[in-house]
Amino acid sequence: MLCIGHRGARGYAPENTLESIEIALTQGAKWIEIDIRQHSGELVVIHDKYLERTTNGQGHIYQHDLSQLRDFQSSNLQGIPLLSEVIEQVNRRAVINIELKDRASALPTIKLIEYFIERGWHYDDFLVSSFYHHALRDIKETQPLIKTGALCASVMIDYAKFAQDLGAWSINLCSESVNQEIIDDAHQRGLKVLIYTVNDPRLFSEFEAMGADGVFTDYPQRFFEWQAQKK
Ligand code: G3P
Ligand code: MG
Repeated sequence: MLCIGHRGARGYAPENTLESIEIALTQGAKWIEIDIRQHSGELVVIHDKYLERTTNGQGHIYQHDLSQLRDFQSSNLQGIPLLSEVIEQVNRRAVINIELKDRASALPTIKLIEYFIERGWHYDDFLVSSFYHHALRDIKETQPLIKTGALCASVMIDYAKFAQDLGAWSINLCSESVNQEIIDDAHQRGLKVLIYTVNDPRLFSEFEAMGADGVFTDYPQRFFEWQAQKK
C-alpha cells in the first residue's frame, strides 16, 4: 500500500510548504500530495481560498496580487510556493499528486507538466486529482497521457463508474465513507483506490485489508513505523 504524504507531511510542518514536502520525502514517502489554485495565470500551492488558517495574510487570495500573495508566510516563515518550485524541489524523488482546487488551474497545470516532460520528467511522475470532475475532463481531453484521480467524498450510486467514464487512473475516496463495495467496484473497473486522510495505524491496517492501493497521511513516519512493525 502506498504512503502519500498529505500536503507534504502536515503532521510535522506547516502544510503545503517546501519544508513540509521535504520532511515527507526524508521520511520515505514516494508520493506526496499538494493543493493548488490558479492566480493570475500562475499556480500557487495553498489549500484554502482564504489566507488566515495557514498564513499571516488575511482575506481571499484574489484580494492580493501575486507578489503580495507570495510575501505571506506560514508559521515556519516559508512563503506560499508556486507549483513549479515544488516540482523543482521534488526533482523526481517522488510522484507528485497535484490536487486542483479550481477548474481554472487545469490548463496551466497541463502546460507546466508538459514543460517538465520536455526536461526529462515522465507522465508517471504526476497524478492530477480534483473534486471538480470537469477539470479532470478538461485534462483528459487536452492531454490523455496525464494520469488523473477522481476525488469523491461519498459512495456514488454507480460506485466508481463516473471515474472510469472520466478515464481516471484512480478514485480517491474519503476514509469516512469508503466501503468494500466501492473498492471492489473500482478494482473491477481497473482503477486504483487511494483513501484520504488516514492518520490512525488501526485504519492503515483496516484499509490495507480492504485492498486499498494507497493512503494519504499527514504522518508518513507513522505509516512507515506501522509498516515496519507488521513484518
Ligand atoms: O487529495 C486528498 C485530499 O487532500 C482531499 O481533501 O481537503 O485535504 O484537499 P483535502
Ligand atoms: Mg488535498
